[in-house]
Amino acid sequence: MKIPLAELVNASLGSTVNADLPTHRRIFELIRHAILSHQLQSGSKLPSSRSLAKDIDCSRNTVIAAYEQLLAEGYVEAHIGSGTVVADTLPNLASDNSQQPSDENLGTMPRGLSTRGNKLTHSPSDSHFEIQEFIQGANDFSVFPYKLWQKLQNKSWREPQSAFMDYARKGGYGPLREVLAEYLRVTRSVRLSPEQVLITAGTQQSLDLCARLLADANDMVWMENPGYWGARRIFEANDLNLRPIEVDKDGISPSPADLQTTPRLIYVTPSHQYPLDVVMSLTRRRLLLEYAASVGAWILEDDYDSEFRYKGRPIASLQGLDHHNRVIYLGTFSKVLYPGIRVGYIVVPQDLIYPFRTGLADIHRPGQMAVQAALADFIQLGHFTTHVRNVRVRYGQNRALLQHTLQNQLLSSATLSNADAGLHLVIHLPDFCDDVKLANDARLQQIDIRPLSAYYVAPPVTRGVVVGYGYMPLEQIVPAATRLADLVNRHMVASHQPALL
Ligand SMILES: Cc1ncc(COP(=O)(O)O)c(C=O)c1O
Repeated sequence: MKIPLAELVNASLGSTVNADLPTHRRIFELIRHAILSHQLQSGSKLPSSRSLAKDIDCSRNTVIAAYEQLLAEGYVEAHIGSGTVVADTLPNLASDNSQQPSDENLGTMPRGLSTRGNKLTHSPSDSHFEIQEFIQGANDFSVFPYKLWQKLQNKSWREPQSAFMDYARKGGYGPLREVLAEYLRVTRSVRLSPEQVLITAGTQQSLDLCARLLADANDMVWMENPGYWGARRIFEANDLNLRPIEVDKDGISPSPADLQTTPRLIYVTPSHQYPLDVVMSLTRRRLLLEYAASVGAWILEDDYDSEFRYKGRPIASLQGLDHHNRVIYLGTFSKVLYPGIRVGYIVVPQDLIYPFRTGLADIHRPGQMAVQAALADFIQLGHFTTHVRNVRVRYGQNRALLQHTLQNQLLSSATLSNADAGLHLVIHLPDFCDDVKLANDARLQQIDIRPLSAYYVAPPVTRGVVVGYGYMPLEQIVPAATRLADLVNRHMVASHQPALL
């Protein structure tokens, strides 16, 4: 495949991404990325250092330095007479998402990984892409009340308790579990007492605990298809068998054949399906609850961004509708506050309180009591409610403007999801579009969108791209959405389908 390397390098050098890096490092990063994302395939010849330097208007030594680094790390080979070509044995990274050049381990061959370790790390799903407009899952950090948060954290340390220095016991800081229980009861109709709440280091840890304590190796887990890669990783790490279940406009949609199976776990995102951006209907919720009770399955309800519902009343949690105590409710502060806080929570039925507290303590050794105390104050003093109100308005405006701009500019064969919830939306594309290629092309222009097909556990897949809008400043939405729509339109047209003509 021939890609316009000089054009791409020029575009990259003109952007603000990695602007703090020296030019040779930026060129290195861009080419390395093009290789790992298969834009530049093995055997492709790089332009000579002289010609690239001329095309991008920099010194030849700069290009040579970039090429030498690529050579040293095994991405390219120098052949006498035929110049520099992309190596056919690449460093063992199946697809690269990294923008962290300082990570010394990147690009080296891992040794001695287990079969599971190899499988789990073969194709990374997490994004280390630098935060930018369309980054998915990120929030607008600029609206976070830093000063207040700092004050509350200082207070924790001004009035130190020995418990703050200790491991977190009994499922976490008591006052936090109490205010959380009240919050969840009022806003999400969760039925609980504070004892049923366990504070974890986020949903990822909550899922891991559930997988370990509620399922054995080779047990079946129903997974929304498409679904959340983070949950999938945890289930794979615990050697569970994934059964992909289709998702339609009403949420997870088990077929008659699915209903003949007996899963141990059912993982769902009912408030806002990830990534399809649909809300699970009440009928579907009832069906799922009845089914889980009939086969003795546990439903893991991941309520990761339910605070963000922009129109209509929030639908009560699945847990709140459940009369059989089969739902484990999972929440997180990653979306509503910031992901680095690493605080989430699990609400378990009464009979699981003791095993879950024991499992959490013995397997994960939780701590961070001072952060938990500051968070308890933050909620107790009403700041959390104010913050949720503020960010809901912000993200609602972002979503509306993004939808409006995309709707006006996209060709009619691309359609938008419309759940009016969450922090991302989906641009659905015709089947003939290669959404992976589109996302790769976008990435080379510093636009981080994700191909919808990559979220599927199994075929058949539908095509599209997942677009985040939480991080995007309002004034950048129209220009950014215009750039994105242009890219998507050009991609659809380039696919040469008569349907578009
Ligand atoms: C579906 C889903 N659940 C949960 C989370 C949050 O996970 P954590 O609390 O581990 O940050 C995310 C974050 O992207 C998510 O997309």
